Amino acid sequence: MKELYYPFKELCEQRRSVRQFADQAVATADLEKIKHLAATAPYASGRKNWEIVVVEDKAIIRELVHLVNQRSDELRNQLKDNFREEFEVYATHFTSFATAPVLFIPTFRIPVGLSYMLTNAEERIVQWERDSYVKSISGVALLILLAAESLGLGGCYMTGPLLAEEDIKQLLSIRPDRNLGAIIPVGYSSQQK
Ligand SMILES: Cc1cc2nc3c(=O)[nH]c(=O)nc-3n(C[C@H](O)[C@H](O)[C@H](O)COP(=O)(O)O)c2cc1C
Repeated sequence: MKELYYPFKELCEQRRSVRQFADQAVATADLEKIKHLAATAPYASGRKNWEIVVVEDKAIIRELVHLVNQRSDELRNQLKDNFREEFEVYATHFTSFATAPVLFIPTFRIPVGLSYMLTNAEERIVQWERDSYVKSISGVALLILLAAESLGLGGCYMTGPLLAEEDIKQLLSIRPDRNLGAIIPVGYSSQQK
């Protein structure tokens, strides 16, 4: 087998999260390449239970930012006084996808497996089952980031915006039985590495 360690090492080492994007579209062929590599991710319990929603519509991306900001405003109202400054810094990262030309949103289902086989599944088994499917999304997300990097694009693995998960699902017409694993903005970086 061809030795790929060094090019892979270079790819991994040069990848850094990108949160500011140039106003430049990503070629459809590149979006397909990223999806293709993401689909090679390993998965839990023999079930490849994720799908990737791709959002390129700028008006929808703006609306997503609005929905996330609404949720962080709600949290702002519940803050303890001594955490206000810390929260403001933290909350800027909930909408780091705002300038991206495209969002990859892995969604997943939690099929019942072991917890269904048991007469009375304890909460920890149900949780374990759920966690396995959530963890599967990490593999998908990392491959999206590395695939983007290999194409000269940047991205960021984001779970902050999922504070508005239900609103986002509604806006994007994602079925109620699916969960959002992350929002991964992808595009050409406009920030210094
Ligand atoms: C599960 C997960 C969730 C993350 N959520 C966010 C997020 O909501 N907003 C953000 O700006 N970055 C987010 N990040 C990116 C991390 O901040 C980033 O990966 C980390 O600081 C390391 O920097 P690097 O990716 O440049 O190596 C997330 C990363 C992971 C793994």
